[in-house]
Amino acid sequence: MAPLDHMSWFLHDRFGMFIHWGLYALPARHEWIRNFEQISNEDYEKYFRRFDPDLYNPEAWAEMAAAAGMKYMVITSKHHEGFCLWDSKLTDYKATNTPAGRDLLRPMLDAFRARGLKVGLYHSLIDWHHPDFLIDDLHPLRNRPEREKLNNGRDPKRYAAYLHGQVRELLTEYGRIDVMFYDFSYPKRDEKGSPQPWLGKGREEWESEKLLAMTRELQPHIVVNDRLDLIEQGGWDYRTPEQYVPKEGVTMDGKPVAWEACHTFSGSWGYHRDETSWKSVEQLVQMLIDHVSKGGNVLLNVGPTARGEFDYRAVERLKGMGEWMKRHARAIYGCGPAPAEFQAPKDCRLTYNPGTRRLYVHIFAWPVHHLHLEGMGGKVAYAQLLNDGSEVKMIEGGPQHVAGPVELGEQSKLLTLELPIHKPPVTVPVIELYLR
Ligand code: GLC
Repeated sequence: MAPLDHMSWFLHDRFGMFIHWGLYALPARHEWIRNFEQISNEDYEKYFRRFDPDLYNPEAWAEMAAAAGMKYMVITSKHHEGFCLWDSKLTDYKATNTPAGRDLLRPMLDAFRARGLKVGLYHSLIDWHHPDFLIDDLHPLRNRPEREKLNNGRDPKRYAAYLHGQVRELLTEYGRIDVMFYDFSYPKRDEKGSPQPWLGKGREEWESEKLLAMTRELQPHIVVNDRLDLIEQGGWDYRTPEQYVPKEGVTMDGKPVAWEACHTFSGSWGYHRDETSWKSVEQLVQMLIDHVSKGGNVLLNVGPTARGEFDYRAVERLKGMGEWMKRHARAIYGCGPAPAEFQAPKDCRLTYNPGTRRLYVHIFAWPVHHLHLEGMGGKVAYAQLLNDGSEVKMIEGGPQHVAGPVELGEQSKLLTLELPIHKPPVTVPVIELYLR
């Protein structure tokens, strides 16, 4: 897809921070806890009454994001639980009425902007707390025998008005918002073998067309994700594979489109105390590189604690990623896939900056001495390691000295890089190639 003007910063920046923060930080066992454990509003109230993030320091959050090399952030204004981080006039179910006693969103947006990051909102279309939100097949009360009775008097139109009204507040009272991440649609569908359809919600219930039009009218430059159930209608700017590493870039009708994969450190989006499936710094750095090499962005999520701090495991990983980004950011920002004529060698990824015409070889497994670049003979003017700017010697068309008669095959188009024996002391070494 030709980058539209309002998308150019998004396609350039490549790396953002997702933040999932809400009442689910207290139970600390997944932001879907209300669904998983089928918790009623009344039973969930204990978290609302005790939400007191006394260590909340948005400047420190912004600093950690910036130091990790992240260029934008997306924060949950409201997740499916319905709790609002901002001082909405349309509900009492908000941070100002908890022991926190204040609007938590505004200082966060200010802090990230002050660090030079773009800011976005994740806004849940789903709301398990709202009295007009019809109990459907994802709702915490879906299995109540009195479900139908509980749905009596619920007015979906009134819920849609609430949803639109809150978005209007957010997009008029909180300054420039760069990204809107709506979440999510799960339209009604017929279940095989079941007499009843599976009850969900989509563009009809959200009144998505109207919501999108208002979003674009209030913030004309805004970049909007793809979860309003308007895929075919083109009501989106970028696709959002979730915790999934696509094989290649994301396409529609065979054409590449803008995309951003969102990922967690450990599986859950909200703070999860006991999860043990944390990805390593190396895996995370490789994941970022891999996505950029396929033309995608990475939105990497932190779930802050109920006291208002980043999980110590996230802090450690953000630091590690920042160490790498400090020296290798120019192989990420402004970069995308390499032109088709360049093929990545085994265990490597290529990224390419069309503006500077530099090609980056990211080496995931350090080879012994020689790295062969097929078809690149004669095309590279200079090569260096990015971490320390030290020259990497190039051998054009195969080695000059080989003891004994050995069959080396066709070498004329080969470019061979002579690497140091020891892997440089960075998570993923990168060779920067200045193309002729
Ligand atoms: C999902 C989930 C969720 C998470 C999100 C991130 O659809 O419902 O908990 O916020 O997507 O992409």
